[in-house]
Amino acid sequence: MAYLKIFRYDPSGGVEPHFQRYELPPEKGMTILEALFWILENEDSSLAFRCSCREAVCGSCAVHINGEYRLACKTQVDPLGEEITVRPLTHLPILKDLVVDMKPFFDQYEKIKPYLIPREEPPESKEHYQSVKDRKKIDSLVDCILCGACYGSCPVAMGDPDYLGPHALLKALRFVQDSRDGAKTERLAMVATEHGVFRCHTIFNCQKVCPKDLDPTGAIAKLKMKSVGFKIKSMFGFARSAG
Ligand code: F3S
Repeated sequence: MAYLKIFRYDPSGGVEPHFQRYELPPEKGMTILEALFWILENEDSSLAFRCSCREAVCGSCAVHINGEYRLACKTQVDPLGEEITVRPLTHLPILKDLVVDMKPFFDQYEKIKPYLIPREEPPESKEHYQSVKDRKKIDSLVDCILCGACYGSCPVAMGDPDYLGPHALLKALRFVQDSRDGAKTERLAMVATEHGVFRCHTIFNCQKVCPKDLDPTGAIAKLKMKSVGFKIKSMFGFARSAG
């Protein structure tokens, strides 16, 4: 028999923060997301949680389960033992129960201009050609699903609300390394700041929790090296050649 101990809080409805315990039916292969749905449908229709794709693609069901940030849809109940504690992502404002306000997370993401700024007009075919070799340079970096697990696990993001965060920095590297992008210098200037790559203390939590097995810590280290090069070049007045 397994139990879910779920964090409950409704700032608008006068419900103080507390944990509520629910017994789950024995069901082989049940995921935490399925368990939350079971509770919603059979025990407590007021329970709030977020989800969408149910197959580890959209990233919206990231929560804190038994001390680790995970996707609820990708985590099975059985291996977690008899009592499983589920909390919302940390250092993001709680809207209700397991639902947090992702605005601070996406505000940081927006700062790195997470879209291609082409170096030239598209050719007649209207496609920006990229060789297989160049595409390999952004392999894995394009796989981030923006679930927020890395951000929730990073103590630096907790202490510095202006820190860009591992998600934004990993995506920044994705565009810096994209052969079709023409804004490398601008992007390095965005991240080579005290709230950018130089704020990261290489704590590795972000790498440990990523449900897609990406390496934000490694991406930030790479971006740090490029940023140092950029800083040196800009000091001597030839930043335009940064890349
Ligand atoms: Fe935070 Fe990851 Fe750096 S946990 S401090 S962004 S290595």
